[in-house]
Amino acid sequence: MTDQPAGLYPPSAAMAAGAHADKAKYDEMYAASINDPEAFWGEHGKRIDWIKPYTKVKNTSFAPGNVDIKWYEDGTLNISANCIDRHLETRADQTAIIWEPDSPDEEAQHITYAQLHEKTCLMANSLKELGVKKGDRVVLYLPMIPEAAYAMLACARIGAIHSIVFAGFSADALAARISGSNAKVVITADGAPRGGRVTNLKDSVNQALINVMHDCKCLCVKRTGQQIAWRSDGDYWLHEIEETVSADCPPEEMNAEDPLFILYTSGSTGMPKGVVHSTGGYIVYASMTHQYVFDYHDGDVFWCTADVGWVTGHSYIVYGPLANGATTLMFEGVPTYPDAGRFWQVCEKHKVNQFYTAPTAIRALMGQGDSFVEKYDLSDLKLLGTVGEPINPEAWNWYNTTIGKGKIPIVDTWWQTETGGHLLTPLPGAVATKPGSATVPFFGIQPVILEPTTGEEIHETVAEGVLCIKDSWPAQMRTVWGDHERFEKTYFSDYKNYYFTGDGCRRDADGYYWITGRVDDVINVSGHRMGTAEVESALVAHAKVAEAAVVGYPHDIKGQGIYAYVTLMSGEEPSDELRKELETWVRSEIGPIAKPDLLQWAPGLPKTRSGKIMRRILRKIAEDDFGALGDTSTLADPSVVEDLIENRMNKQ
Ligand code: WTA
Repeated sequence: MTDQPAGLYPPSAAMAAGAHADKAKYDEMYAASINDPEAFWGEHGKRIDWIKPYTKVKNTSFAPGNVDIKWYEDGTLNISANCIDRHLETRADQTAIIWEPDSPDEEAQHITYAQLHEKTCLMANSLKELGVKKGDRVVLYLPMIPEAAYAMLACARIGAIHSIVFAGFSADALAARISGSNAKVVITADGAPRGGRVTNLKDSVNQALINVMHDCKCLCVKRTGQQIAWRSDGDYWLHEIEETVSADCPPEEMNAEDPLFILYTSGSTGMPKGVVHSTGGYIVYASMTHQYVFDYHDGDVFWCTADVGWVTGHSYIVYGPLANGATTLMFEGVPTYPDAGRFWQVCEKHKVNQFYTAPTAIRALMGQGDSFVEKYDLSDLKLLGTVGEPINPEAWNWYNTTIGKGKIPIVDTWWQTETGGHLLTPLPGAVATKPGSATVPFFGIQPVILEPTTGEEIHETVAEGVLCIKDSWPAQMRTVWGDHERFEKTYFSDYKNYYFTGDGCRRDADGYYWITGRVDDVINVSGHRMGTAEVESALVAHAKVAEAAVVGYPHDIKGQGIYAYVTLMSGEEPSDELRKELETWVRSEIGPIAKPDLLQWAPGLPKTRSGKIMRRILRKIAEDDFGALGDTSTLADPSVVEDLIENRMNKQ
């Protein structure tokens, strides 16, 4: 292999031979998916059991003013039946979910498909008991416990739409999401153990419900048995209702286009939007990507370390793997508890075959040294995956050498909450990887690079610009909950007739794609999306803050950190105490993940004469890149910039 360019890692012969797709098969299937999407997706839609088979496959339009996306529109199915019931004949006693608790001293659970069926039915009937019907919304605010999966599948079973709120979000954020979807029930737990500490989730729910104006019941899972406050009305223990309901619940017949879930995600403006995913197209795509991208084979143990509060947990802990009859591992804890060897201890203990995590976790663990890895036997690992942000070469090398022992493929998967599943990714038996590149498109995906200002497609192979997608794929989001106009405006108005991803991208001479980061005001903190506008509005909601501007800056572990410039109301004095107060304030408004890493007092913000904040300049100062401030001649008051540079936080 002497002629291989540096940094090119071809699939091993053994991998290619045993994989679902080798190079020839990938090329052939990709060509087929683009040349005739109807035929391709018509065929692959059959991987799912339909109640009434579809006769129409694709009916999609990105046309301005008429964005409309439908897949398999006349088919009917039930996702819970696809993830559970259809496996019962052959896999009733196979483990569906391995649950590893926060503490290594607590026993892991192995939940079989038969048990998953029973638990899901009990939860589904409990929801019905609380009055939940097809089309109703149910919010989940849960730790990473098996009940989170039961609850998702129970909603899918009865046709209710779930909306999961990450349990690290604050009561205020939770209230906004319960109100936004007019949810009938919120499912939570008494407490959530994480990293050896326990948070009282029920308390947050109680607080949230004070600010919810409609009637919303609370279904509570007993996880820790700790003391919790019960509201006078509308609170129910799951285990108590379950004693009164049947352990069988027939799955509801759903249309392919019925919504399966809403998941709120940050955008560049305003409050988070409710991304809506459908039933048929979503499950076809989630299960197919899970099988091909991770090269999942029967009997493998698959572990995705995400939380079900994010899209990665939806598609690759629950729906994709279970639709494939897989054994999926669900982990309640954190990578560093009780020490930085936890991931590897769990891999050894449960003989994990595919391991999927985020670069931020890899960087954090790499920093703790190899001794935490060397204690464990990782010989069952066949594949490693990453998601969430571009992976830097140092982290890639460590992942490859120390975890993979230089022998197994790393799939770098690029996708978004909006895309439902992987769009750019290598298939491990087919595509040579390059560290830091999400490589090439999955079946059916037509990435294009546009010149950012003209919107012209760049046809040359080597290109750099904004990343758009030319045509629809089955798991594409269908709308923004309650606001189709916002959907069109956000994704289809800057570049007409394309889906705009919000990411910048480069294509190299081999046609490989390299994501260069967001081109909008979304930042990526520890692999989590954060709208800078959200943090700004939380800050200005504080009585002492007059104005705030938030940008990202490079952070060794988190990828990007949150840098906040804060202008106080006149008469207010900056102090360390006030800084702490504002940090606590943001935590309580949004959650710990939104807490600014650096907060600089700004007597003024750089603005144009028309009053627009010049974020470009703020970004450069936060990046410590003062030489590249660019044109500052349009500033209303250039001295503002000098002050900000003078007082930049953590000057290196
Ligand atoms: C970024 C997570 C580079 C990107 C599934 C995208 C990535 C945003 C990668 C979506 C990757 C995700 N390489 N960047 N492999 N994966 N991103 O909605 O900026 O939480 O637009 O979905 O994360 O984040 P989201």
